[in-house]
Amino acid sequence: MATVNDTDRGIAALKRDFPLLDLTVHGHPIVFLDSAASSQRPRQVLDAMRTYDETTHANVHRGVYGIAEEATRQFEASRAAVGRFIGAPDPAREVVFTKNATEAVNLVAHSWGRRHLHDGDVVVLTEMEHHANVVPWLMLAEERAIELRWIPIDDEGRLVLDHLEDLVDGAKLVGVTVMSNVLGTLNPIARIAEAAHRAGALVLADGAQSVPHLPTDVTALGCDFLAFSAHKMLGPTGIGVLWGRAALLEEMPPFLGGGEMILDVRKEGFTPNDIPWRFEAGTPPITEAIGLHAAVRYLEAVGMDRVRAHELDLTRYALGSLAERFGGDLTIFGPPEAEERGGVLSFAYRGIHPHDLSQVLDQAGVCIRAGHHCAKPLMRRMGCTATARASVALYNDEQDIDALADALAEAGRFFA
Ligand code: ALA
Repeated sequence: MATVNDTDRGIAALKRDFPLLDLTVHGHPIVFLDSAASSQRPRQVLDAMRTYDETTHANVHRGVYGIAEEATRQFEASRAAVGRFIGAPDPAREVVFTKNATEAVNLVAHSWGRRHLHDGDVVVLTEMEHHANVVPWLMLAEERAIELRWIPIDDEGRLVLDHLEDLVDGAKLVGVTVMSNVLGTLNPIARIAEAAHRAGALVLADGAQSVPHLPTDVTALGCDFLAFSAHKMLGPTGIGVLWGRAALLEEMPPFLGGGEMILDVRKEGFTPNDIPWRFEAGTPPITEAIGLHAAVRYLEAVGMDRVRAHELDLTRYALGSLAERFGGDLTIFGPPEAEERGGVLSFAYRGIHPHDLSQVLDQAGVCIRAGHHCAKPLMRRMGCTATARASVALYNDEQDIDALADALAEAGRFFA
């Protein structure tokens, strides 16, 4: 199996590890700028999954024959590695494998929320949350009279925290994204967590956009729960993570019922399993866990500090070069300084509808996302229905940004 030996390679050379980036689209080399939606996978991840499937696969936590025990060992090794990657104090017990980040938030809403939120209780969200961290709370609010409060944003896409203490006063939970999937804004989670905890509230951080791109330490973040997905961090679809403090997970009831999440079942009742298996009903995504482990190994070999530094350079380059080339024809939403944001650039260009723009850019091989990005409350706050969005990952380089700019110029001529 290929391994990452990056110490003597520039980060740009990593592009060669990603087979899909060799594609040609409409006669042009693909320029993939939609990693905020789903990232590409390096050969190391694809190989690890295939090797597991071809040599080891059996169900986990069940069989006592050789390959079943080895499958279980590899599955649990993935859990521990994921936990260490985010600085979990108790990696083997605090990482719950889910289907994706969305399911991780739903797990908290259904399990912790149903046990602890009653009529009149308050949940605080922000205006920039992805639907994944909005709709589960709206669903709970349809069942019981919980109050949702919203931390507003300013016109440059930063959270307005002037009245944070008032907003969290009396709250039981604060749900906040670490990094906006639309604006790229990096939020001060530690500051929010401090205020939330002083008020007696827990903090659920949505790390779907941040964990793939920034060093993550749950203790430094100060959150109580962290949700994220493998498929945005070079891993496969079909597996996500809920990290939760062990003491919280221990007193939470199961989320889904079935095999694997129980210690005992009788006709008149059941005894739930220990954490984290209590929250993993049925056969889990085993091959996907192996892939996620390989993705974590890959990111660790590169170094998350280097990933952040590279993407920060690219973001700075994109902000500067697009502004210089298009001036007032192009508006980039979100904080103006690269340091305040991750590599997500939502923009409006010469009044061209984002979907039209995305289709025309595709003719040049440039893949960007267009739409409301599953953040309709934010779109309404921004006064638009959709944006075009280019987002980078560690495999992008300045040439990709130049290709985006060239394709935008061509689209400008096309729609003139
Ligand atoms: N949440 C993903 C995005 O922002 C799908 O594109």
